[in-house]
Amino acid sequence: MANNNLANAKRAKNDEFYTQYHDIEKEITAYFEYNPDVFRGKTVLLPCDDPEWSNFTKFFAQNFQKFGLKKLISTSYATDSKNVKSDYQPTRFETSDPQYDENKTARNGKIFTLSHDKTGNGKIDVNDLEWHYLDGDGDFKSDEIKALRDEADIVITNPPFSLFRDFLMWIMEANKRFVIIGNMNAITYKEVFALLKEDHIWLGNGFHAGNAYFATPFAREYAGGVYDSETGLVKFRNVCWFTNLDHGRRHQLLPLMTMEDNLKYSKHKEIKGKDSYDRYDNYNAIEVPFTDAIPSDYDGVMGVPISFLDKYSPEQFAILGSDYNIKEGLLPELVNPMWKGKVDRGYINNERRYSRIFIRHKKSKI
Ligand SMILES: C[S@@+](CC[C@H](N)C(=O)[O-])C[C@H]1O[C@@H](n2cnc3c(N)ncnc32)[C@H](O)[C@@H]1O
Repeated sequence: MANNNLANAKRAKNDEFYTQYHDIEKEITAYFEYNPDVFRGKTVLLPCDDPEWSNFTKFFAQNFQKFGLKKLISTSYATDSKNVKSDYQPTRFETSDPQYDENKTARNGKIFTLSHDKTGNGKIDVNDLEWHYLDGDGDFKSDEIKALRDEADIVITNPPFSLFRDFLMWIMEANKRFVIIGNMNAITYKEVFALLKEDHIWLGNGFHAGNAYFATPFAREYAGGVYDSETGLVKFRNVCWFTNLDHGRRHQLLPLMTMEDNLKYSKHKEIKGKDSYDRYDNYNAIEVPFTDAIPSDYDGVMGVPISFLDKYSPEQFAILGSDYNIKEGLLPELVNPMWKGKVDRGYINNERRYSRIFIRHKKSKI
């Protein structure tokens, strides 16, 4: 029981990461630049938020007119429902409002909406947000929030990390457009990879230089290198955006060298100076341990790291599957018929390798 509580507390701590304004701005601008009408006339829902101070709510409220939004809806999750202890205090914004209710402040979620110029100052912005308590706690799985999801065209948020898979499926079952933050490991989840493989979803534009900074009440519990005492933020390199909105970077082809040039000039010591790329013992494919070492002229199947997806353009490559798919028997043509051992991962000289995604060039005839 004690162990269970500890695990729950740890999980809940991993859910409390607050996104920086400029990271949201950088990401959302990529969709807007690619298609200036992407948000026009749309209802955007920001669930799992804390609208009083969330940067998602601020950013979309401030850009309401520029984006041509029809309606912005933002909801929060009740403090009492969170599995983390906090010294919760309602904000002055809330306590000074006539509808403040001390029985509801921690027990109920809140909803903020923006659709018109409430203040009458001729513009629609953060000052025009209207709010009230939700009937329930704001759990995204509740009927109340499901109804808001169904009303929305696009769902955007940084969902609780521990519920990422459920959250993504919650969006997909309603067939909505979305932009959400998640851990890169989620790529390997069976259901998530199936969507990536079929180009139903893809990775977003991305954090600056791959560094994602978050505010968290538990920042000090992280080691130096992750926690920055000057900014009070934590930095992660394994976090990315997932989406099904198009953006320009997705259509940029990766500049690559030929196999011969890679073997001569690659910056990676694992490639430079070798006679050839390694072939797996058990798969009919070559091992490419770095995305920038993908040979431009290799026609066959290549095993690449999962971080390849961050550089993936559907015009340049086809994704065939993952180790997991091979293990499931989905890609029998990739398995070396002479191999008698496991097919849980790629093996080279009988040594088990990292998890890989199998790709080929689109132009290849195979
Ligand atoms: C990763 S934080 C992100 C908060 C905010 N969207 C941001 O990016 O700054 C996820 C939030 O979802 C809340 N949450 C946890 N479980 C939830 C649930 N079942 N339904 C709705 N929200 C939940 C957490 O308490 C936390 O406030």
